[in-house]
Amino acid sequence: MTKLSKVWIAVACLLPALTTVAGQLTQAEFTSQAKQKAMQLGKTLKMNLQAAVKEGGLTNGVNVCKDIAPAVAAELSTDGWQVGRTALKVRNPSNQPDSWEQTSLMTMVKGLEEGLKPGSLTQVSMDDEAGQYRFMAPIMTDSLCLNCHGAELAPAVQAEINQQYPHDQATGFAAGDLRGAFTVTYNSEE
Ligand code: HEC
Repeated sequence: MTKLSKVWIAVACLLPALTTVAGQLTQAEFTSQAKQKAMQLGKTLKMNLQAAVKEGGLTNGVNVCKDIAPAVAAELSTDGWQVGRTALKVRNPSNQPDSWEQTSLMTMVKGLEEGLKPGSLTQVSMDDEAGQYRFMAPIMTDSLCLNCHGAELAPAVQAEINQQYPHDQATGFAAGDLRGAFTVTYNSEE
């Protein structure tokens, strides 16, 4: 064997290792990190929401949601990660689902109708070639949410929402309904 071909074998052996570095995460590692980010966003939002409602009432809560939700999502969106929330019926038009998110949300609705547990309805999509991983987890409606997403809102809350979100679609929910989903994307190229 020539010296040159030995070098080529060494390079060829290194390539898969380099590819793994570029792709970075296995599906299990990706899913565990994505889950953690979704949970962090959910926890932080709920804490802020409860504090805001306690301090200044629900109309205050609307404004806190408006400022805090995008800020917390942005804080978690580093190093190739993109974290946010989406829904089939959105309050903020910038949370509109793309086609994969829409299909995933519909899969969640169907699963819930079939009696599956929300925790079993997370959705994952992997595109190794593009280096993109996507994850979604359902967000369920509970009684706190009904104050701002229920069928009947207090007039002051409704007025505040009308003013801030003239195209709001996110009312009329009942406890136990799917309200939306956390959506987490990782791009290895970024
Ligand atoms: C004080 C009013 C208020 C309460 C209570 C509230 N929300 Fe919201 N929600 C909002 C506002 C305002 C937005 C729009 C935030 C934005 O601009 O990103 C929103 C947006 C959302 C979104 C993002 C999708 C969309 O419609 O734009 C989800 C998902 C959501 N809320 C779920 C919940 C859940 C689940 C609860 C209960 C745990 C809850 N909300 C309680 C006011 C509220």
